[in-house]
Amino acid sequence: MVWEEVLAKFKELFGDEGEIGVYFAPGRVNMIGEHTDYNGGHVFPCALTIGTYGVARKREDKKLRFYSMNFENLGILESSVEGLKPEKEADWTNYPKGVMWAFGEKGMKVEQGMDLVLFGNIPNGSGLSSSASVEVLTGFILRDMFGFDVTNQDLALIGQYSENKFNGVNCGIMDQFAIAMGKKDHAIFLDTATLKYEYAPIKLENAKIVISCSNKKRGLGDSKYNERRSECETALAQIGETIGINTLGDLTEEEFEQYKGAIKDEVCQKRAKHAVYENQRTIKAVEALKNNDVALFGELMNASHVSLRDDYEVTGIELDTLVEEAWKIDGVIGSRMTGAGFGGCTVSIVKNDAVDTFIEKVGAAYQEKIGYAADFYVVEIGDGPVKIK
Ligand code: GLA
Repeated sequence: MVWEEVLAKFKELFGDEGEIGVYFAPGRVNMIGEHTDYNGGHVFPCALTIGTYGVARKREDKKLRFYSMNFENLGILESSVEGLKPEKEADWTNYPKGVMWAFGEKGMKVEQGMDLVLFGNIPNGSGLSSSASVEVLTGFILRDMFGFDVTNQDLALIGQYSENKFNGVNCGIMDQFAIAMGKKDHAIFLDTATLKYEYAPIKLENAKIVISCSNKKRGLGDSKYNERRSECETALAQIGETIGINTLGDLTEEEFEQYKGAIKDEVCQKRAKHAVYENQRTIKAVEALKNNDVALFGELMNASHVSLRDDYEVTGIELDTLVEEAWKIDGVIGSRMTGAGFGGCTVSIVKNDAVDTFIEKVGAAYQEKIGYAADFYVVEIGDGPVKIK
């Protein structure tokens, strides 16, 4: 068991006295509805059974001692619950520290420190939300340790707030929400404008969800992400003047086509087109799933990728290669990039008997074209955060 190894590491580093808690928060994959969550649109993500394990113990003083089994070379990173601010040297600990800071901002100041050991089995930089997983996990631990009166949905909002304000990425609510509210074998159909949501069962009798990881690190991704977001804001300001809407998610495709001329800049117009069409595609995809029409769901996934490639321009040769090679394989129901893009992963629905061929053929074509290997994971949809012990 993974958690037992994390607990053993905790005891080795920090001793075994006192009350030690063992926790887990999942990673997430988004099935469809990409770059819609900061545009007031819909998303359709699910939590995974892979994620982040955390072992923690409250301290009597204000010290924080953090250790990650994924970054052992960094050793134990120490700081304090006083004067929390983002620091380059703090590296990954800026995520848990950001969440502690965010609790303070929301009137729940963390007064005591903690010792914490983490281990994540989400591939690093893969776009399966390892950072949101750490954020929700930290909030979950703080609630358990200090008895803060917050719901799982609050944990998602606090995690997003910390990512936006402490770590400087203007992400939407999707990742933290999918993780905090995850439900085994279900995806979450979330309206990001109202936070109304509905669980939809994912019953893939003859197929699996396969994640293909490009192993291309995001690099400049975060700044490009913020750039896309502001392009959408510009588009909304211009089209909104004409028809008075609050978000791009308020528009149907027809309305967009009628009023798009109000968006002066051609690039901003393409970004807005993606946001509007992707939102409508997501609504249609969930409808298709309810009707047991997995084939239509897959077609909408494919169309989502084309739009992210051509209009939103967040794919790149690595993700395009993974998806375009996947489309060539019999038994692939749908395939698209997932997450922010600019590297990271794709998600595919693949018929059971095609999974091995898929991994072999897409893997070989990727290696040939890109020059290094991709990794493949057949994943399961899991629950939200839990206290294991
Ligand atoms: C990242 C962000 C999310 C969302 C996706 C794109 O994962 O954290 O809020 O915007 O990109 O859909």
